Amino acid sequence: MKNTKPQKLWISGFTGRLGQNIVELLKDPAWTSKISVLGGNSSRFLFTGKEHLAEKTPFNEIAFGEKLLESEIIIDVSLPVGNAQLLSALASRSIEEKTILIATTGLDKSAIKAWRDFSAKENHRVLVAANTSQGISLMLSLGIPLALALIKQGFDYEIIETHHRLKKDAPSGTALILQEALVKAGEKKKIPVPQKPMHALRGGGVFGEHTLRLMGEEEEIIITHRAYSRTLFARGALTLCSWLIQQKPGFYAIEDVDLSNTPDFIC
Ligand SMILES: NC(=O)c1ccc[n+]([C@@H]2O[C@H](COP(=O)([O-])OP(=O)(O)OC[C@H]3O[C@@H](n4cnc5c(N)ncnc54)[C@H](OP(=O)(O)O)[C@@H]3O)[C@@H](O)[C@H]2O)c1
Repeated sequence: MKNTKPQKLWISGFTGRLGQNIVELLKDPAWTSKISVLGGNSSRFLFTGKEHLAEKTPFNEIAFGEKLLESEIIIDVSLPVGNAQLLSALASRSIEEKTILIATTGLDKSAIKAWRDFSAKENHRVLVAANTSQGISLMLSLGIPLALALIKQGFDYEIIETHHRLKKDAPSGTALILQEALVKAGEKKKIPVPQKPMHALRGGGVFGEHTLRLMGEEEEIIITHRAYSRTLFARGALTLCSWLIQQKPGFYAIEDVDLSNTPDFIC
């Protein structure tokens, strides 16, 4: 990473829990030298200004679009409706190369295709990551081959996810990624993997739990990823931005991310 000036970040979904976690992390001098918060928006407000984004103004589509022009990195941690608004604000302007991390979940296939098309038309880097934790990346890269080996031997599988009571989408984006990765890996290795309904539990304050349960006649293996704090996702989002900014322009999914070659941009 050759840049010396902090990259200017815009956060869509700024007032949300994850958005605020990201802002908190960015107060750490270790990050400040690399990423500075230019501003953020919610559906109701725009936030700008140097002193921890002190200026709060009512949301205004034109001002929103203009601020996006100034940003170098954009993180979307809003809701699908906010995600669609962000894309339309970007797509309706001629903008220079941007690094865009979509961490909002609950996007349907057409929304993801729209981002893919957008990245293909323009010189942008877009990463859609329904789960920004490093543990989930490893669960995908190491857990899927294990699951396939067991399914080949006749094991059944189930995906179970649990989240706090306020989570709006179900099943979670991560559960969908796990299922898709398993089915795709099965197709490649010619091991039939049935598409199955997933189990989504909602309650309390659970940050996020994903289980891949592999059940044989006489034994079973359970792979569970448990998030202990939301900061995990905020830190992971910044790590993913650091990775993304070093990639060629294009569209990326979480399965494309390889953090083993950790860039020095990451704290
Ligand atoms: N990728 C990951 O690892 C990961 C981890 C956790 C959560 N998430 C996802 O990240 C998103 C945010 O999660 P959260 O827990 O922070 O939710 P939250 O607290 O409900 O925050 C949602 C944010 O989106 C804003 N928003 C709503 N409608 C909007 C619109 N039309 N335009 C712009 N902003 C809008 C809300 O502000 P107003 O109400 O003021 O508009 C708020 O700032 C969700 O999609 C969640 O599932 C992803």
